[in-house]
Amino acid sequence: MEAWLAQLRKMVLNDQTPRLVLIGATVILFLVVIIDAFGARERAIVSREAGGIARFTDDDSDVSVPSVYRVPRDFASESLRAARLAEAEDANGEGVDLPDEEEIAEAEDAAEAEEDVTETEVAEAEAAEEEAAETEVAEAEAAEEEAAETEVAEAEAAEEEAVEAEVAEAEAAEEEAVEAEATEEDAQTAADESATEAATAEDDFALLANADIANGESVWRQCRSCHVYDAERNQGGPHLVNIIGREVAIADGWRYSSALQDYDGVWTVEALLEWLENPDAYIPGNQMAFRGLRDEQDRIDVLGFLNENTQ
Ligand code: HEC
Repeated sequence: MEAWLAQLRKMVLNDQTPRLVLIGATVILFLVVIIDAFGARERAIVSREAGGIARFTDDDSDVSVPSVYRVPRDFASESLRAARLAEAEDANGEGVDLPDEEEIAEAEDAAEAEEDVTETEVAEAEAAEEEAAETEVAEAEAAEEEAAETEVAEAEAAEEEAVEAEVAEAEAAEEEAVEAEATEEDAQTAADESATEAATAEDDFALLANADIANGESVWRQCRSCHVYDAERNQGGPHLVNIIGREVAIADGWRYSSALQDYDGVWTVEALLEWLENPDAYIPGNQMAFRGLRDEQDRIDVLGFLNENTQ
């Protein structure tokens, strides 16, 4: 029997349930006390108002307020007012009840309970702080790891870029070299061409080497009715200033035939020799009314004369 009692006592002491029940009960008591206190306060207010309630009635108002400015009373506030008046009448008879000793004791218990609650709060706050600290550490670690990863990634990216840049440069250099070669080739081609042209021109003028200038001047008499060679003046035909080596149909102010306009070329010695032999055969449809110089020496001589006097 004694053993059983000891067992029971141990259980009661170790078990948390009675303590929790006790704490719960005190909290509820505390709330009841507070609510009751508020009720008492309310009652006190109502009784105070009841004492001076006559002052707020419209009939005894000292100041006359125009009805427009009066705040209208709604039904709710009106009924609350009536209820308070009734309550105040009751309270006047009974008086306000003050809290007795029992209630004071209960309030003290409640205060103790509050202390308990405070302790719990402190414990919780500590736990929260610890958590926060742990979280911060974890975050810091994560940030470090990220930073390290980022650095590695950047380094890799930089290397790749560098390699790419080198490749690009190498390619650019190759291209440039190729271009340079091409340019050289072009230059050579151009040189060759100009050399060829020069040779042709030389050959061309060589045809005039044995021209009889005096005879040329007398042959020119057949042309001068229409052409001028020493001034840019058009007559019966376009002026012939610098005609050897001149482009076909470019004399300013002369309306050439479409045949000459369409003829795309340069008046080389060779071309002029052919033209003067038989203009209609060389450029069919032209408008130069000249039958041509049948004698080859006459043609050479007249061109020699023009070449001598226009340069
Ligand atoms: C009756 C006038 C006449 C006579 C004579 C004449 N020409 Fe012409 N010549 C022309 C006319 C007009 C043209 C333009 C033809 C055309 O537009 O189709 C021309 C064009 C030319 C051109 C081409 C000019 C150019 O700008 O392309 C040459 C070169 C030329 N004559 C040389 C001569 C020579 C050299 C003689 C003498 C041997 C001669 N002509 C005699 C009237 C004449």
